[in-house]
Amino acid sequence: MDFNSFDTRGAAPDLPIFDGRAEVGGPAVATASPCRRVAASSPSRGEVDAVALVISVEQASDVAAREALLDRAMGPTRKRKASEKLRRGRRPAEGLAFAAKDADGRLLGTVRLWDVTAGAGGPPALLLGPLAVDPALKGGGVGSALMRRAVAEAGRRGHGAILLVGDAGYYARFGFTAAPTAALAMPGPFERARFLALELVPGALDGAAGVLQPAGRRERASAWPAVAALAA
Ligand SMILES: CC(C)(COP(=O)(O)OP(=O)(O)OC[C@H]1O[C@@H](n2cnc3c(N)ncnc32)[C@H](O)[C@@H]1OP(=O)(O)O)[C@@H](O)C(=O)NCCC(=O)NCCS
Repeated sequence: MDFNSFDTRGAAPDLPIFDGRAEVGGPAVATASPCRRVAASSPSRGEVDAVALVISVEQASDVAAREALLDRAMGPTRKRKASEKLRRGRRPAEGLAFAAKDADGRLLGTVRLWDVTAGAGGPPALLLGPLAVDPALKGGGVGSALMRRAVAEAGRRGHGAILLVGDAGYYARFGFTAAPTAALAMPGPFERARFLALELVPGALDGAAGVLQPAGRRERASAWPAVAALAA
């Protein structure tokens, strides 16, 4: 079994998810694995190792590790994406920022979702991203586990649709297609074939047209002390 086999549906918002044991009085820790590790020096998949996985709602104390992971996984141009215009100065949607960690608390992956409006005056929706996994753990199922948790929790919270810009070859497995975004646009350059959506409520994006608008709660410096410390 790898992390892809985890069923995150119905997971409570602040609980780790996996099928492992729960420790009394402490966080539940996955006994799951194997996780396929990719050796940094080799393009092929390496040996199979057991790695525990805990997915929980991101905390302020995770911010520095998350930013470092995003730099490693996506490179320095990551903040120039059109999606960034919808995220800058905003907080992620309530309860929809996730951190995947190993049993020692080391960050393995991250995903966040953001409140947007699907075109001016259009329906509310979520923008997913960035999704990133520690490059040393590529192909180990961490990304899929994060996606399943994010989609399940967005649905549980009553959201109608999730949009993202990414590789259809990866996101199709979670139900994302380009069809619902045909009349929508990002607020900056984007590739149409990579602009995907998943309707959690059928028809949630019917008639949606125009440029996505940011709709998230404004960031408060006091809410993210780690960010303030980094900026200082
Ligand atoms: C993309 C990413 C999040 C996937 O996470 P992961 O934990 O490595 O992926 P999983 O183990 O869940 O899934 C692996 C499967 O996805 C496939 N896959 C991974 N990236 C893919 C891509 N860009 N396009 C198509 N398929 C992809 C793998 O081939 C593998 O397929 P298989 O199950 O048939 O063998 C991760 O590789 C990453 O952080 N990449 C760098 C940042 C990035 O590109 N983020 C996404 C922005 S669109």
